[in-house]
Amino acid sequence: MAMVNNVLFSSYTLSEGLVLKNRVVMAPMTRCFADETLVPTNDMVQYYARRASAGLIVTEATLISSDAQGYPNTPGIYNDQQAESWSHVVDAVHQNGGKIISQLWHTGRLSHSHYTSEQPIAPSAISFTGSVPRSQGLIYELPRPLKINEIQDIVKQYAKAAENAIKAGFDGVEIHGANGYLIDQFLRQSTNQRDDQYGGSSINRVRFALQVVDAVIEQVGESKTAIRLSPQAYINLEYTDGDEEAYELLLNELDKRGVLYVHLGAFDSNIEYEYLNGRPADYISQFFTGTVISCGSFNVEKASQAIESNSKNLIAIGRPFIANPDWVERASQGQKLNDFEDKMMTTLF
Ligand SMILES: Cc1cc2nc3c(=O)[nH]c(=O)nc-3n(C[C@H](O)[C@H](O)[C@H](O)COP(=O)(O)O)c2cc1C
Repeated sequence: MAMVNNVLFSSYTLSEGLVLKNRVVMAPMTRCFADETLVPTNDMVQYYARRASAGLIVTEATLISSDAQGYPNTPGIYNDQQAESWSHVVDAVHQNGGKIISQLWHTGRLSHSHYTSEQPIAPSAISFTGSVPRSQGLIYELPRPLKINEIQDIVKQYAKAAENAIKAGFDGVEIHGANGYLIDQFLRQSTNQRDDQYGGSSINRVRFALQVVDAVIEQVGESKTAIRLSPQAYINLEYTDGDEEAYELLLNELDKRGVLYVHLGAFDSNIEYEYLNGRPADYISQFFTGTVISCGSFNVEKASQAIESNSKNLIAIGRPFIANPDWVERASQGQKLNDFEDKMMTTLF
């Protein structure tokens, strides 16, 4: 059955300069296929180009510095060679009629000396228990707390990475504040036990995130600055009573700044959390009045319903895009979709 009238496949004006041909976003997905110097390869150019029928692509998480790394072969955008190679990805996506945003990443306590040759850095010296995914038995290490001047240097690294991304031609940047990585580690009490201006009260826990947002806005403008958040703690760290106060504060500040969008980081958007009074995407929309990208286990029907109930929603699709480079063509024409299988992670088709 053709679905040409489905709202999911109608165009959407994200900002004056950024009109999407449909409301489908390809979710950011780490694939670990950059070369040994963390430079995007030609296979990555083809991988993204094949998926340009999405209204918007958000790249896999991309490192803002060499000490941000926690997994093998994740690309960076902190040096000229990386930025230059990303420009080939961007050009190929643009040539195929797509739009693409770079996701900026620091893993914080989830980094590993195996990749960085340095002890991991974090808000506080609190380690994550367990072994590092895709890293053959590496165990997470005890991080050392960042000094204030180091925090300020990392804020500058985000701004520099954003500058590199815009120079490479990206349509914007998405600050990765979700999924228990560095920014999330500052926002939450279980990972942030600092007693200076970056820890303690919710205002203090939000400070780092907002400084990053403001530095990136100063560099590239609010219409090219977006952020991903997971107000529900569901991966890589624990929830503590009162964490949501920091999220409420942050979302209100993001609303004042009019950033491009807020993107929910989740694997199942339908789970309700008592401390958020329901589903996390609805929670975000309570405080942030701009575009909200929801994500996590969507199919065509659920995606259209979500947009019908909130016209400022876009829907990100993750694993199905690995299984179906032409997800938009197939879904919009009611054709059969391939199921995602773990073995697909071993190639970049
Ligand atoms: C292989 C893989 C890698 C991922 N890497 C990232 C990432 O780099 N950045 C991020 O914000 N989320 C990442 N995610 C989460 C996805 O963006 C998305 O939230 C998740 O896959 C749920 O959407 P889906 O049910 O449509 O797959 C990843 C997910 C998968 C499956």
